[in-house]
Formats: sequence, structure tokens, C-alpha cells
Amino acid sequence: GMSGKIGIAFGRQCLTMVRSQDERGSSVMNYKQWLAGQLAGQLEGVAEESIAELVEYPPNPQMGDLSLPCFKLSKQLRKAPQAIAEELKSKWSGNDAVARVDAVSGYFNVYLNPAKFASDVLSEVLEKGERYGSQETGQGKNIVIDYSSPNIAKTFHIGHLRSTVIGNALYNIFQFMGYNSVGINHLGDWGTQFGKLIVAYKLWGEQSKVEAEGIDELQRLYVKFHDEADAKPEMEDEARAWFVKLEQGDAEAEKLWRWFVEISLKEFHKMYDLLGVKFDSYAGESFYNDKMAAILDELKAKQLLEEDEGALLVRLDDYNMPPALMVKKDGGTLYHTRDVTAAIYRKNTYDFEKAIYVTDAGQSLHFQQWFKVIELMGYDWAKQLQHVPFGKVSLEGAKLSTRKGNVIHLEELLAKAIEKTREIIEEKNPNMENKDEVARKVGVGAIIFNDLSNNRIKDIVFSWEEALNFEGETGPYVQYTHARACSVLRKAGDGADKPDASAIDAAQLTNAEAQGVVRELYLFKERVEQAMLKLEPSIVSRYLVDLAQSFNRFYHECPILVDDPGVRSARLALVQSVRVTLKNGLRLIGLDAPEKI
Ligand code: ARG
Repeated sequence: GMSGKIGIAFGRQCLTMVRSQDERGSSVMNYKQWLAGQLAGQLEGVAEESIAELVEYPPNPQMGDLSLPCFKLSKQLRKAPQAIAEELKSKWSGNDAVARVDAVSGYFNVYLNPAKFASDVLSEVLEKGERYGSQETGQGKNIVIDYSSPNIAKTFHIGHLRSTVIGNALYNIFQFMGYNSVGINHLGDWGTQFGKLIVAYKLWGEQSKVEAEGIDELQRLYVKFHDEADAKPEMEDEARAWFVKLEQGDAEAEKLWRWFVEISLKEFHKMYDLLGVKFDSYAGESFYNDKMAAILDELKAKQLLEEDEGALLVRLDDYNMPPALMVKKDGGTLYHTRDVTAAIYRKNTYDFEKAIYVTDAGQSLHFQQWFKVIELMGYDWAKQLQHVPFGKVSLEGAKLSTRKGNVIHLEELLAKAIEKTREIIEEKNPNMENKDEVARKVGVGAIIFNDLSNNRIKDIVFSWEEALNFEGETGPYVQYTHARACSVLRKAGDGADKPDASAIDAAQLTNAEAQGVVRELYLFKERVEQAMLKLEPSIVSRYLVDLAQSFNRFYHECPILVDDPGVRSARLALVQSVRVTLKNGLRLIGLDAPEKI
């Protein structure tokens, strides 16, 4: 019977039953797997796994909590979908987790027992707390993530922000799934551009100005080099010569280069601190300078290197790609040379399961080319290399370009977002303590969330208005909902944030709004897993909006701090579960979850 108190023993028993269906040993219930287990053997020749793959969570709860569409099975079983659904219905023997089943238009629909569903989900969320939604599938495996990777002496712009926040979210998501994530900032600190910068600095630079203005001044020198070199092509040769000197360890070249790096890193660190992003390694392109010769030898020994007008390249004609240039005719190495060398170094150092590179889609060919070079070298782990591209950011139709200088400075963007949040706080909550801290967490959160709110491959037309919009499906909305849950628990008083799952009367959570929240809470684990498999953090951001919306519907419809102790404690347990899950999700995508906003 489902009436009355549902004790922890009952909840556990159900969890155990569901868990035993999950052969991979995950301790998280999985209703798709569970239903497949129930249905296995009822349809001749249909494996449990293939049923599990078909089960859906219907978007409309009127269609059930779980649904098996029978259309794909129809061909294999030579039966109409509706006939299959009806057969499953007639064979259904009943189960205390299920209220009823139905066969409608080719779907076999399952309506979970709402009190038991609520009890199971809440017990699990409350028991696991900050580990709710996590898995151990990745244990003992390393994932190397190359992200952010800005270029020294160039502005850290909104395109680098994308790589930074997507990479950071993937880092957290893999970690949450049990992997050991290794975050690498592959700084663009090597290449002919440093030859250009040295030439420009020697011609027009002033030490005090560079010290005072940092990257902005280096950037101006770089742009000036290009403006002047258009008319004086010999400047390009001079720049190339300086880079070759740098590669060969020339003292003057190296001293200037080190200084440029130091100045740039100081500014990048300011951004990373604000964004709350960390790396395990800052081994940039220069780190591979002394490691490339061995790789070039290896390429030569494997007969992959071809000479072409003094340059050395790997032909990729057979794969319909332009050749990968490895050494220029002046002896200088290239972006490709360093990526191939870095990948081999990383494989030897981290023995990765997967190495991920987060850059804009404009670099796709570059990655395809050198992944192929690794494969041609005979490394079967080439298939563990994966480019994770994202769409371009444009500003009023023009592509953001460092050379032309029409960039949105991330520093300016974050400052504006923080300032705007500060104004809203002054207006709505002037007595708040730590206004600055909250303004920073919410302002920065708005920017990060905005970046992660669409599929990463989608191009973004940057708009100040949208980036600073805090209404609707935004980071501040999710953060605010989390703070609202915290506030309810604070008002409820002592212990409300540590509810005793065994004391919950889950029969109080069977109304549509509460069930809507329970369903969303349940979906968290699956969404995080999808985000990992698809390398798509936006799945988590969109999920958080869904959870926040379902919670706010519940909050508006169902008074929580009521007199009836059974209703009150059940609803508070739901609030606490939402709080935990929102916080876990926000943390995964790199947002803080302040308790008061
Ligand atoms: N520095 C490059 C850029 O700003 C991105 C580097 C990405 N990582 C890599 N291993 N190629 O476009």
C-alpha cells in the first residue's frame, strides 16, 4: 500500500531493486534500464539493451513517466506498433513502483507510482548530496583537455572566453564522472608573431608604456607592424629572422619574449581568477621547442616528410587535405609541428583515454590534418584525439579579429556585468552583506551561462544587451532560484537543510507541481552523462533552467511553510533536493551558487 508514511526501508528496497538491474554497477537508479529489465523476455528476440535504448521520458506527463515507442520494434516483430504496446500491457504483471500502464497510438506508457517515485528520488538526492548525479565510470582514466589557450601579447577576447568556459565545464563534467581531468592551457607563446613583435618593439616600443598598458600596448605594436609591413615587405623577413633567433636561444630575443609572456600572463590570470578557472599545466607552444627535432627525425624515419621548395611537409592528398607544413624554408617550425609534438608528449606523460581540443570551428581542418599525421606515424591512439569545435563570435556581422583590433575585451565585458549586477542589488536589496562578492558571482555567472546556453557549434552574434540580460533563461535566474530555495530553508529554521529522508511522507508530493520537480531531479544524472558523451555543456545549462522553472512553478502553487507537519517536511525535503541539484549543476558549468542574492 502507498498510503501513509513511506519509510526509508521501503525507499531503499526499491532502490536496491532498481540497482540490481544495472549491471555496470552504477549505484544510481536508471528507470530506462529498469523498465527494459521488466519487459525483457516479453518480446521474442528483442534484447534488453535494445529496449533500454528505446525508452523515453515523455515531455508531457499525461503520456506517462516512461514510454516505449513500439515503431522500431514493429518491423522486427512483424506486428503493428499498437499491437505490440497492447501485448506488453496485457502481459504486465504489476509492480509496486508503477501506478498503471497503458497502450496508446503505438506507445507503451508507464505511470510511476508518484509517492514512491518521489521517495526514491529524494532519498537518493539527499543521501548523495554534492555527489548526486556523479558516477564512477571514469575511474583510473585520464582525460586531457586543451582549452582557453590564448595567444601571448594579444587581447584575451570573447572567442577565448568560449574556449575557456566550454573547456572548464567539460573538465568539471569528466571529473564528476570519475575521470581524472588534466587541464592544459596551450598558450600561443611561440611562432613568427614573436619575431614581428620584437621588430615592432625595437622600432617603436617604450618599456614604460608596455609596463603601464600591458597587452593593449603590445597589441598596438603588433597592429602597427602589419600596417607598415604592407608597404615594406622586407619587415616580414626581418621578423622571420628574429623568430629563428628566438628558436635558437638568442639571448636578446629570449629576454624580450620572456617579458612579453610575463606581461600577458599577468592579465590572463586576472581573467581566470574572475572566472574561477584553473589549469593543471601551462605548457604552451614554447614548451615543445626542444622536443620538435626528435619528432621531425621520427617523421623522416617513417618516410612521411617530403621536401618542397626548401620546406618540409607531410602530404595528405590521399585524404583530400592540403599538406601539413612542418618546417618552413627559413627553418622555422609551425603550429602543426608543435601540436604533433605536444600530442605525443601528452600521450607519453598522461597516457590519456581521450585528448580534447576546444577551439573555434575555423580550426577544424588544422586538427583533421595533424590527427591524420599522428595516425600515419602509426599511433593507434590517434582515434583518442578529439577536436571540440565551437561557433564563431561575431560583432555586427564582422568576424572578431585581433589584427584589425575590433575586439570585445573580456575584461570590459566582465566589468560591465559586475557593475550591472551591483546596480540591481543596490536597487532591490540595499541591505545585503557582501554586495561585491555577490555582484561578482552573479555578474560573471551571467556571462558564462550566456556562453553555454546554446549548442556550442552555433555561431554567436554578440550583443551587449543579451549578454547582460538577467531575465528569462539566464544564469542569474538559476542562481536566484537556488538562493530562493536557500531562503525557504533558512526561514524554516534549524535542520531544514538536513531533512531525514526516512521521515518524509512522500504521499504529500503526488500533486502535478511536486511531481514535475521530482521528474526533473531524476533527470539530472542522465543529462550530465549526455553532456559528457556529446561534449556539450549546454545540456547541463538548459537542464538547470528546466529544473529552476519546475521548482518556481511548485513554489508559486504550493505553500511550503505550512502548519501541517507532514506536508511541511515533505515539501522542505523537495526544496532541499532542488537546492542540492541546482548547486551541483551550477558548479559543473563553472558558476557559483550564492545562498543570498
Ligand atoms: N592559441 C590558439 C588560438 O588562440 C589555440 C590553441 C588551441 N590548442 C591547440 N593545441 N592547438 O587560436
